[in-house]
Amino acid sequence: MRDAEFFEKHNAQHFWHPMAHPADMLANPPKIITSAEGVNLTDSNGKTVLDAVGGLWNVNLGYSNQKIKTAMQQQLQTLPYYTSFSGTSHESAIELSYVLSEWFSEDGLSRAFFSSGGSDSIETALRLARQYHRIRGDKERTKFISLKQGYHGTHFGGASINGNARFRRNYEPMLAGCFHIPAPWTYRNPFDETDPEKLAQRCVALLEAEIEFQGADTVAAFIMEPVLGAGGIIPPHKSFMPLVREICDRHGVLLIADEVITAYGRTGAWTGSRLWGVKPDILCSAKAITNGYFPFAATMLSNQIAETFENNKDATGAIGHGYTYSAHPVGAAAALATLEEMKRLEVATNATNRGNELMLECLNLQKKYDIIGDVRGIGLMLALEIVSNRSTKEAMDKTTMSKIFDGAYEAGVMIRVSGNKIIISPSLIVSKLETQTIVHALDHALGSAQ
Ligand SMILES: Cc1ncc(COP(=O)(O)O)c(C=O)c1O
Repeated sequence: MRDAEFFEKHNAQHFWHPMAHPADMLANPPKIITSAEGVNLTDSNGKTVLDAVGGLWNVNLGYSNQKIKTAMQQQLQTLPYYTSFSGTSHESAIELSYVLSEWFSEDGLSRAFFSSGGSDSIETALRLARQYHRIRGDKERTKFISLKQGYHGTHFGGASINGNARFRRNYEPMLAGCFHIPAPWTYRNPFDETDPEKLAQRCVALLEAEIEFQGADTVAAFIMEPVLGAGGIIPPHKSFMPLVREICDRHGVLLIADEVITAYGRTGAWTGSRLWGVKPDILCSAKAITNGYFPFAATMLSNQIAETFENNKDATGAIGHGYTYSAHPVGAAAALATLEEMKRLEVATNATNRGNELMLECLNLQKKYDIIGDVRGIGLMLALEIVSNRSTKEAMDKTTMSKIFDGAYEAGVMIRVSGNKIIISPSLIVSKLETQTIVHALDHALGSAQ
């Protein structure tokens, strides 16, 4: 057993952290989290804080769900691994595909393609979307359109449809044939439009114009998060996604819902698409599907796509895509237990109730602190946008944002700071008392950062 001194000495020395500058990690070694229980984390100094980030918006049932842990342990004992490449299968993946087809039947999705995380699920969606058109003889439908500020993971496909330069610039050139339209973000948009419904209309008009400009017969799919997450929590007006659906249908373009965050209850609905009353052609889910206990993803496909592949009789329908760990038995067992627990604990309803309370409290904080330029969100995904000047909306500097993070931690809460935004996305089992702890910590942090 290595001692605490060992971990401190080697922290970030040989380990490059995702989404971080290696030099910064060396200069400011990251916090070492040693254990977790319920919705709380304990660090190597013995300090316990409430995790208002929910892992990375994935530990929706908290850190102590024994049913999921037991299911994983049992699967490890009976079949710790086997491939699902053509010719072999296993029981937990078969059962999971059946359960998911029921779970997503209201969304019109009946087939699952498994992989190991959100980025994989996006890559799968993009590749299968192109292949779908190819099977139908629409070989030129290869382009993708997405939203600025959207986040779709970091594989080359996902990064190419990503709407934030931070994840693109150092890795260019991106995949050819990817185009972006403005997001329906009322706080900052190129039209200075603050009315969410009018803004939705403007953005979808641009989507249609872009499809027509590219030539509809060259566009494979439009992809969007039903509520934009990592881009700063942007819930569109309720008319946006239905209008997108109409436009996609008019032009034979597939609609891919990136629900890596929004699937499984975070918005208060079981899927973000359902929240807006839309049936996507493809839905990407990952993160909470195993409560973060195992890297796993399910890309769900509509009946129409399924039939196109399943009725095909030549090589264009053969799937040349998949991973060694696709449908990993331990992940599938974790997912089965997680789905059951999510239903039993009615976490979507708790997300709505706790989210509404948090939203009211954050709006109260906005009255108290001028540096809160905007508060937005839905269910248990909320953002506070911090500005140095409310009228010019100038983004707050990095040093102040770090002070806010430190202040919240000091007050016993782990928050996520992304650029000038504070992102709050606790586990969906969070209690009313725990959301109050989050609000008190934010109050303390914002007060001490000014
Ligand atoms: C909407 C969305 N899509 C895709 C991804 C990528 O998922 P992963 O980090 O598991 O590859 C994320 C990750 O945060 C996400 O938020």
